[in-house]
Amino acid sequence: MSSHHTPSLQADESPSPKVMERLTQQLECLDTPEVVGWAFEQYAPHLVLASSFGAEDMVLLDMLARVWPSPRVFYLDTGLLYPQTLHLIDTVRAKYGIHPECVATPLSLEQQAQQYGDALWSRDPDQCCQIRKVEPLTRHLQGERAWMTGIRRDQTLARRQTPIVAYDTRFHLTKINPLVRWTDKDVFRYLVKQEVPYNPLHDEGYPSIGCLPCTKPVTPGEDPRSGRWSGQEKTECGLHL
Ligand code: ADX
Ligand code: SF4
Repeated sequence: MSSHHTPSLQADESPSPKVMERLTQQLECLDTPEVVGWAFEQYAPHLVLASSFGAEDMVLLDMLARVWPSPRVFYLDTGLLYPQTLHLIDTVRAKYGIHPECVATPLSLEQQAQQYGDALWSRDPDQCCQIRKVEPLTRHLQGERAWMTGIRRDQTLARRQTPIVAYDTRFHLTKINPLVRWTDKDVFRYLVKQEVPYNPLHDEGYPSIGCLPCTKPVTPGEDPRSGRWSGQEKTECGLHL
């Protein structure tokens, strides 16, 4: 893979801060595909890519597929995803032969409305995200050793300090964020150059795509995250606190 001495630490035994710091420093020196390769060698098959099929996740999916013939990819299906997102999942199946795993709450939208009232997302989005995303995610990550996400440092204030790798004490496994240093431009440069399919909504003013009721387009020059939970205090769905 690389001429670097790739760290061989298994970060899933809740390593000491010192050991973790050394690993982080080593990984920060690698190219992104090398970080993805390291994650694969270290953790597969107990490694999963969390994908919303946004631009970042498509970069990671493409990189992972180059080193792992059948990468494990899952998506949290809230029942409120855009049709364009669902269509992209079909495209991924056809192009890569990957079968992304659908992870969802057993609570249907009708049941949720009965129990919590209509349009919970507009009254208590934290609770809605908790039910439709965080709880299914918590269950899904049990028994895995590492998960990979597409978060970038320049996306939100809270993400600015995100390490490239860390032990996730919330879900009790290693969390790998290979794209922390990437900008939006880097992401699209990669997608175009490598001819990776992406969600057409990105070209229609949606830099960040979540659920239908909680995502709006953004006008050029506006904060790219302002289209998520627009008009509310919320900027994170609770996956990455
Ligand atoms: S969110 O917290 O605001 O929803 P964002 O859309 O920025 O997150 O995505 C950040 C990362 O979280 C993605 O790159 C992906 O790894 C993961 N993620 C977000 N939404 C989902 C989803 N529906 N299913 C699986 N992973 C997701
Ligand atoms: Fe509910 Fe909105 Fe969260 Fe989706 S993003 S789970 S609709 S609150």
